[in-house]
Amino acid sequence: MIDKRHKTLGEFIIENQSSFQYTSGELSKLINALRLGAKVVSHEVNKAGLIDILGAAGETNIQGEHQQKLDVFANEKFIQTLKNREIVCGIASEEEEDFISINSNDEQHQNKYVVLIDPLDGSSNIDVNVSVGTIFSIYRRVTPIGTPVQLEDFLQPGRNQVAAGYIVYGTSTILVYTTGDGVNGFTLNPALGTFYLSHPNLEYPEDGKIYSVNEGNYVHFLQGVKDYIKYCQEEEGNRPYTSRYIGSLVSDFHRNMIKGGIYMYPKSSINENGKLRLLYECNPMAFIAEQANGVATGGRTRIMDIEPTELHQRVPFFCGSKNMVDKLKEFLVKYH
Ligand code: AHG
Ligand code: MN
Ligand code: MN
Repeated sequence: MIDKRHKTLGEFIIENQSSFQYTSGELSKLINALRLGAKVVSHEVNKAGLIDILGAAGETNIQGEHQQKLDVFANEKFIQTLKNREIVCGIASEEEEDFISINSNDEQHQNKYVVLIDPLDGSSNIDVNVSVGTIFSIYRRVTPIGTPVQLEDFLQPGRNQVAAGYIVYGTSTILVYTTGDGVNGFTLNPALGTFYLSHPNLEYPEDGKIYSVNEGNYVHFLQGVKDYIKYCQEEEGNRPYTSRYIGSLVSDFHRNMIKGGIYMYPKSSINENGKLRLLYECNPMAFIAEQANGVATGGRTRIMDIEPTELHQRVPFFCGSKNMVDKLKEFLVKYH
């Protein structure tokens, strides 16, 4: 139950501002802007089921408003919010081919952060009323402040992240984020438009009983992954594990972090590098996972140590409770 004894996200941001290493209030303002974007998108996601009544995407609805696809809508809203508030110098989005530079010579506009975002994650679930989300990742730029941002400001390894978070638009809307000092979750009270601290200090259980993978791709997986899946299904000790796969990374991740589990999107004979994007999906989730005592690996390499080479790069992704990921790694090294 959430009531007024719970801290609001706004209060939490202010109280924790002084603990940031490079505090200037800029990061707080940035998280505030993402909070606002989350509320706007949450409102729209909740209306998605009314689309047949109000008009389908691409059409003009009864009020003469143009209906957009939710992923386009979410992309525009987050970009607009960040631009309007003038708190970042650049944005890279899964929905945009190139990064966006928000630099100007204006002295007021000397921002040092870039944001990378997956505005709508799990988009195939929109039409069927299943939880979707947003993922964001924040870095300090590496090129000089006041100059236009460059590709290298975005192609940083995940370990350089200053903050990362996600929003799940689920049975309720929850925003989870870290600034490198643990992970906290805030649930939206839609009536008041306020996020309340509902999940302080989120941590993965060390062990879990859930494995999440698209098993439709099983025959295409490498032998190590196949053997691990069989291990999950074997009857021994606390096994078999339960299989749960929503198909929205944010939702699968959120459940596994709370209950204990492992998420896998391996490479396969049809997807050479898996499917998930390093910069918009894997790095932010890896940062949150590690801050919550979990592990995130590409197989051999820690996700956050991968040196990115391109904006939309894909990598295999394994993430979850420590003991489960450690066990998976034992299987992987046998073959690769
Ligand atoms: P997006 O909607 O941003 O393109 O991401 C979808 C991703 C991720 O959320 C999910 O876990 C995965 O794709 C599901 O892929 P499969 O349908 O191949 O299992
Ligand atoms: Mn996604
Ligand atoms: Mn997306």
